[in-house]
Amino acid sequence: MELQDLEQELARCSACPLRKDAIGPVGWYGNPQSPIVFVGEGPGGVEDDYGCPLIGPSGQLLDKALWATKMTRDRVLTTNIIKCRPKNNRTPDAAEASFCGKLWLSMELAIIKPKVVVALGSVALHYLGNNDMRITRDRGMWFKTEQGIDCIATYHPAYLLRLYGREQVAAKWDVFHDLEAARERAALLAPDYVFMSEEKPDLFKLFKKRVHDYL
Ligand code: URA
Repeated sequence: MELQDLEQELARCSACPLRKDAIGPVGWYGNPQSPIVFVGEGPGGVEDDYGCPLIGPSGQLLDKALWATKMTRDRVLTTNIIKCRPKNNRTPDAAEASFCGKLWLSMELAIIKPKVVVALGSVALHYLGNNDMRITRDRGMWFKTEQGIDCIATYHPAYLLRLYGREQVAAKWDVFHDLEAARERAALLAPDYVFMSEEKPDLFKLFKKRVHDYL
């Protein structure tokens, strides 16, 4: 199966109750050939509006961190565990993450076959690793996903945005080092791949605002 076919199936998904409160499922963005995939938690309001993962404030911070580590969003692939925005931006629980992740993310990863996955924050870490892992303790450490892919976790950009002062600076450096380690490993395993374009893509030009179809 191709990623485009999966995208069409995802657009029709109504397998769980989260779908009815969202404008629609939000899939992935980037290059399907990418040896590195970034996995966030789930769409927020801006992502639901535009149908693009990590396009809102968290995504903009991620873009800066990627640029600093010589990657651009069009050359990597970004996606989420949960495809439909939970009402009021609530954090999805482990059962919701597991249900949606098994249905969609596992298929995406099976098609893309990345060399490296980066888990952004605890929801992604718990799904890709296990529920006993802790982002503050286990970020920056390599482990294998159930599908046998090298995975490293780092702080979610929304967490960085909630911090201030020295704590924020220290956490941003941690993320910088984690992303650098991830790119280096992916580059080692896919030596000819180009991880960066000359400019960052403007996602607001590439994605149009969606309208609610009130299922
Ligand atoms: N946070 C995420 O984890 N993913 C998004 O797409 C947006 C915010």
